[in-house]
Amino acid sequence: MIKIAIYPGSFDPVTYGHLDIIKRGLQIFDQLTIGVLHNPNKKTLFSTEERMAMLKEVTKDMPAVTVTSFDGLLVNFVRTRQANVIIRGLRAVSDFEYEMQMALMNRKLAENVDTIFLMPAEPYTYLSSSIVKEIVAEGGQATKFVPPQVEEKLRQKFSLTKE
Ligand code: PNS
Repeated sequence: MIKIAIYPGSFDPVTYGHLDIIKRGLQIFDQLTIGVLHNPNKKTLFSTEERMAMLKEVTKDMPAVTVTSFDGLLVNFVRTRQANVIIRGLRAVSDFEYEMQMALMNRKLAENVDTIFLMPAEPYTYLSSSIVKEIVAEGGQATKFVPPQVEEKLRQKFSLTKE
């Protein structure tokens, strides 16, 4: 039986931290379905389509990865994909409380759905999409944090395109 896991998130935008979790997930599961949250009430810098396009671009050499979007409850999305495992990255203790609440609530909603936490490589433990957006918005370099295509998209958003 093929083992499929769902990797959900906002991915606004995808970072090297996310990619690290994707690669780790692929060592455990046969297929990984990335679920990009589409929630018009949640303000994002990039549209759902833009976030998906960036993820597709940076995972194009990973045939076991599928990029899709979802709205509504995560557990319903997991069920429609015939999966029962959710992957989440856990960076520091500060992530833990929110992640535990989500994992346990998701389990209440769908008893057979489990959440597996993967820790990113050390250099990515302090990395987040929000902090990368702030760095680029203020004219800083994000080369170490996001793939070049993503950095370019960030620069375009903040109208900092190189001459
Ligand atoms: O990258 P993020 O923003 O930390 O991801 C959060 C995400 C998308 C996993 C979470 O907000 C989510 O699952 N939203 C869907 C709505 C839902 O199911 N909420 C109940 C979870 S307990």
